Amino acid sequence: MTGYQEKQGILHVENVPLPKIAQMAGTPCYVYSASSIRSQFSALKAALEKALPENRAPLLCYACKANSNIAILRLLQTLGSGLEIVSEGELFRGLEAGFRGEHIISTSFGKNPQEIQACLEAEILQFNIEAWIELEQVNQFAAMAGKTADVLFRLNPDISGGGHSKISTGRKEHKFGNSEAKIIEMYRRAAGMRHVRPVGISVHIGSQVTTVESFRPAYEALANLVKKLRSEKLPVERLDIGGGFPIAYEKKNALLDLDAFAQWVADIILPLNVDIQLEPGRYLVGNAGILLTETLYVKETDDRKFLVLDAAMNDLIRPALYEANHGIRPVVTHADRPAQKYDVVGPICESGDIFASQREMTEMRKGDLIAIESAGAYGFSMASNYNSRPFPAEVLVDGDHVAVIRKRQSLQDLIRGETIPEWLR
Ligand code: LLP
Repeated sequence: MTGYQEKQGILHVENVPLPKIAQMAGTPCYVYSASSIRSQFSALKAALEKALPENRAPLLCYACKANSNIAILRLLQTLGSGLEIVSEGELFRGLEAGFRGEHIISTSFGKNPQEIQACLEAEILQFNIEAWIELEQVNQFAAMAGKTADVLFRLNPDISGGGHSKISTGRKEHKFGNSEAKIIEMYRRAAGMRHVRPVGISVHIGSQVTTVESFRPAYEALANLVKKLRSEKLPVERLDIGGGFPIAYEKKNALLDLDAFAQWVADIILPLNVDIQLEPGRYLVGNAGILLTETLYVKETDDRKFLVLDAAMNDLIRPALYEANHGIRPVVTHADRPAQKYDVVGPICESGDIFASQREMTEMRKGDLIAIESAGAYGFSMASNYNSRPFPAEVLVDGDHVAVIRKRQSLQDLIRGETIPEWLR
C-alpha cells in the first residue's frame, strides 16, 4: 500500500503517525492517503496516454460508489477526473464537490424519474442505458426540458469477470447490459427519437476483475458491435470501456499490468476512431485507505483466541459479504511479543462479524491499534448503522496535512428523522 510506511516501529500514513490520528479522530475511523490516490490516478492516466495519441486521451470517470466523500471527490476533480454516478445522491455529491455536468456520466441501473430529471438539469455528458424504459424516459424528460441527451447502451458480452460472484456483471444471467441484437434494436429506435442522441456503447464486466485477460474479449465484443452498428449507418463516436481494475488485497492477487492493458485499448479500441472513457473506482482509492481500529480485548475460548476490535461489519462489510481478505496489521510493532493465531472479529451480534479467521499476527493486547488495509474502496461507502453503531469518522492525510473529512456520527445523529407517533406518546 503506497502512502503507508513503518517509521521506527510505528505505522505512518504519509508523514503522520497513525496513533496521532487515533487520538485526534477516535476509533474506528477511516484514513486515506491523498498522495496514494494521486499516484494511482496518474499511473493509469500515464499508461493510457503513452499508448494512445493525444487526441484520443481517454476521460477517466471516477466511479464514486467506491468512496464518495466529497473531499475525495474534490481531490479527484482537481486531478482532471470525470465522474461516474449511479444515483441522484451521487450526482448531488459530485456537483457539491465541484464537478461540472459535462464531466459526469450516469450508468445507473433502474434509473428513476427524479434522478433522470436531476441529471438533465445538470446537463451531464451522457446516460448509459440499461433498458427500453430508461431510454423512453430519458427521451420524454429531455423533451419536457427542451434538451437532447446523449445516450450509450451497455453491452452484456456474456464474459465472466469480477473477483466474487456478487460483483461479476458480464454474464447473460446477470441483470446488467443487453445483447448485441437488443442494442442494435434500441440504437435504431433511439436514432429516430428527437430528444436523445445515440452516441455509443459501454461495457463493464465486473469489479476486482482478477482474471485481467477477460478485459480483452470484452473490448473485442464492443469493437464487433461498433462494426455492426456502423454497417447500418448508425453513428458511434464514443466508447465507455468500464472499470473493474483489480488491486492487491492478498499477495496472490493478479494485478493489472497497466502497459499491457493500455496496449489492448490501443489495439482494439483506438482503430475504431472514437472518444474513450473509463470508469475506475477501486483502483484509484482502494489501497489509499485503511480502517483504523482499536483492540477492545482478546477473548480466549477452549478452541480459539478472538481478537475483538472496536470496528465491525457495519463499518467494513467486505469480509462478511464477499469473503474478502484484507491485510490486518498492528500499528505499533512489538518485536518482543510472540506470534498468535486469532479470529479477528467485531462487537456485532452475528457470527458473520468476522474480518479474518485464524490470522497469524503478533500478540495483541487491549488498547493496541490495528490497521485493516485496502479499505479505501467500498469501505465507508457501504457502511451502515447496524446495531445502532454510529458511522465512523473519515480522515484525509496529504503530506503533513491532516483533516477530518467526515465527523463521527453522534448518538443524536442515529435517531435524526425518527419520530414516535402521537398515539404512542
Ligand atoms: N462502472 C460500473 C458500471 C460499475 O457498476 C462499477 C462498480 C464500476 C464502474 C467501478 O468498478 P471498480 O473499478 O471499482 O471495480 N462493493 C463491491 C464492488 C461493487 C462494484 C459495483 N460496481 C466490493 O466491495 O468489492
